[in-house]
Amino acid sequence: MFTPRAIGFVRSAYNKTTEIPKGLGAKHEAEGVLEILREFEVGLTDIEGFSHLIVIWVFDRSEGFELLGTPPSDNRPHGVFATRSPRRPNPIGLTVVELLRRDGLLLHVRGVDMLDGTPILDIKPYLSSIPEEVLRRGWLAEAEARQSE
Ligand SMILES: C[S@@+](CC[C@H](N)C(=O)[O-])C[C@H]1O[C@@H](n2cnc3c(N)ncnc32)[C@H](O)[C@@H]1O
Repeated sequence: MFTPRAIGFVRSAYNKTTEIPKGLGAKHEAEGVLEILREFEVGLTDIEGFSHLIVIWVFDRSEGFELLGTPPSDNRPHGVFATRSPRRPNPIGLTVVELLRRDGLLLHVRGVDMLDGTPILDIKPYLSSIPEEVLRRGWLAEAEARQSE
């Protein structure tokens, strides 16, 4: 279809997956830097105006995939496409981060859940248009309800 290429790399304080908060109620407030390669610098034009960005990246340290798995946020198995598992047929991750500031090729962000050195495939502005009242959270809402029982 196409050969993906990195447009940059994540700089984060996480070197091991065990250091990244997981499970129900896990908060991703860690700051990090999206270091964009110089050849893509013009593509950052006007990005400063957005408070939040969608970062599309590669689970480069994940092996193989599992169509059914039990995520850290539940004790029941769910299909890979109903989870955010790193072990997917195409190992692509997606994280919404808050843009704190831009410093040339460096985007300082909050909310990283990626390991240091993670390749970035794309960045898009985050524009949510789904009202909260119509958003359904599937098995995650059920797992949260069970935990608070
Ligand atoms: C549950 S996934 C969710 C990632 C992203 N927010 C998503 O929804 O696609 C986050 C986990 O991926 C793992 N991870 C982070 N960076 C990785 C990388 N470069 N390669 C493999 N696994 C990674 C860590 O275990 C982290 O806790």
